[in-house]
Amino acid sequence: MSLSRQTTRLTFIGSGNMAAAIIGGLRALNYPAALIRVCGPDTDQLDELNSQYGVGISADNTMFLEDTDLLLLCVKPQIMQAVCTGLAPYLKTKRHLGILSIAAGVNTAQLSTWLDTSLPILRCMPNTPAMVQEGAAGLFAPTTASKTLRDTAETIFGAVGLVAWVEKEDDLHAVTALSGSGPAYCFLFLQALESAGVRMGLSTEVARNLAIQTLRGAGKLAANSTDSPDTLKRKVMSPGGTTEQAIRQFEADQFVTGVDRAVLKAWERSYTLAGEQCPGPVNLPNAHD
Ligand SMILES: NC(=O)c1ccc[n+]([C@@H]2O[C@H](COP(=O)([O-])OP(=O)(O)OC[C@H]3O[C@@H](n4cnc5c(N)ncnc54)[C@H](OP(=O)(O)O)[C@@H]3O)[C@@H](O)[C@H]2O)c1
Repeated sequence: MSLSRQTTRLTFIGSGNMAAAIIGGLRALNYPAALIRVCGPDTDQLDELNSQYGVGISADNTMFLEDTDLLLLCVKPQIMQAVCTGLAPYLKTKRHLGILSIAAGVNTAQLSTWLDTSLPILRCMPNTPAMVQEGAAGLFAPTTASKTLRDTAETIFGAVGLVAWVEKEDDLHAVTALSGSGPAYCFLFLQALESAGVRMGLSTEVARNLAIQTLRGAGKLAANSTDSPDTLKRKVMSPGGTTEQAIRQFEADQFVTGVDRAVLKAWERSYTLAGEQCPGPVNLPNAHD
């Protein structure tokens, strides 16, 4: 179904960066403004969303619950319990399709306890490029979620980028470590490329623009190609050439091992923040080849 023909009534709790990005994506694809409502304490953010996208707003989180199909929880993890217990008395199993949370490290068992509900609860781990409709989101749905609910969730996050379903809720820890935190890893690499460019005499502006476009172009090439990253890498390297020299130095500096260790640190941290036990890495020698 096209987004303009959607009838699912959405209420966002929280009007921050992520909620604004998702709403922007939905409106860019003509999801009807009348079906989107946003609640939260920040009246400046609410007014901005109302004037930019024409969506309904309220400082009262319970205002739109009577005629909401899908409730999207977009607040910080540390206030999630207080927000959920405030919503709990207003949730009706028959009236609502389900609930979707984007909070990192708050699991569905906690959410259903705080919300005191048997409604299906989905979780999504988005990332900040959703703000420019180039997000990468991991989605998890329990077996009790209807196809309609799954499709709606996919439509919403598909409006701001790529969606990948994970089978186990635990897999969202890996999604957090890979694509949730991933934009920061890319910005670090960007920073490193830019600073190397400046050390070789380029202006900051030229170095940054070339580095940004190189990351963008390489990502697009990888997305549009059937070649593996390793094959694509080899296609840039000619024997005895410049790229080969750089790759040899990356290898000597154990770049891949460093990335692997860093991402696994984020993965372990995700479990710790959620108060869960990290199972330890799957042992796959040469997993990056
Ligand atoms: N940013 C990321 O990269 C990222 C990636 C994946 C997942 N997430 C998850 O997305 C969620 C939102 O992140 P964000 O970056 O959008 O945060 P954010 O910009 O701080 O937005 C949170 C919003 O919640 C509002 N809020 C505070 N107390 C509230 C209450 N009692 N009831 C309703 N709303 C309330 C805040 O208002 P005030 O401004 O007045 O406090 C703010 O509008 C977090 O749980 C985070 O884990 C974020």
